[in-house]
Amino acid sequence: MSRKNYVHGYTDRESERLADQAQTLTGLLHGDTIYPAGSRVLEAGCGIGAQTVILAANSPHACIISVDISADSLLRAEGAIREKGITNVTFCQGDIFHLPFGPGTFDNIFICFVLEHLSEPQRALERLRPLLKEGGSITVIEGDHGSAFYHPESRFAQRAIDCLVLLQRDMGGNALIGRALYPLMSAAGYENVHVSPRMVYADASRPDLVEGFIRLTFTAMVEGIGEMAQAQGMISREDWEKGIRDLYRTCDTDGVFCYTFFKGTGIRT
Ligand SMILES: C[S@@+](CC[C@H](N)C(=O)[O-])C[C@H]1O[C@@H](n2cnc3c(N)ncnc32)[C@H](O)[C@@H]1O
Repeated sequence: MSRKNYVHGYTDRESERLADQAQTLTGLLHGDTIYPAGSRVLEAGCGIGAQTVILAANSPHACIISVDISADSLLRAEGAIREKGITNVTFCQGDIFHLPFGPGTFDNIFICFVLEHLSEPQRALERLRPLLKEGGSITVIEGDHGSAFYHPESRFAQRAIDCLVLLQRDMGGNALIGRALYPLMSAAGYENVHVSPRMVYADASRPDLVEGFIRLTFTAMVEGIGEMAQAQGMISREDWEKGIRDLYRTCDTDGVFCYTFFKGTGIRT
């Protein structure tokens, strides 16, 4: 994936969004990922380190190696780790398809919100598998924008979400990949594959999720592709603005938002 076909881009705002997303979803997505002391963990596609800081905090005695193709993102990730005083992470610039590690190097691999941007997600999983020791595990986390539903309903909000799905597809990715994790991981040769859906449900009784998920994670993500969607003639400016307004409208006291992430684990036998 090159810089130009990464739908969310590498802006400061997107970095903030990734950090908000990771913090808001820590319990839901990371609660059951604890690596034993001394295990070697590869984090593939660490970005700005939003998940790295959580992984490292939850498994302080594991040795984590975090890679990303973007040198800029890695610099930010290193800064985030340093700021938190974390010492069990090292960083390496690299492409998931050509990583400089020998077979059986890792006990565990963690990859989150990366496959959705790749045109060959199964091949990426296939390339990662030999890097695991026999019996080693992979953990994959992805969203699925088709799982978003909300109140009040809005055809403009739905169109805005659909623009993101279509743009990502045009760039070779798949914003609906969450539902395909089980077949993807199985086809890539992992055994004991288990996928669990992780639903975020936000209403006014959960102001933390309204702010952290609806506003700062999901709507910020959709809003970020507005210029591109309009420039490509997918939607008029007026309809786009209505769509974003209606997504923010779900943050009101009578609003509701639901979204499902998918977390898969598998073993290299
Ligand atoms: C949406 S970000 C997710 C970052 C992080 N995992 C998180 O959840 O915050 C996707 C990341 O995958 C990285 N990436 C995409 N293709 C890659 C590849 N072939 N090799 C390594 N990293 C890649 C991008 O540079 C980007 O930082």
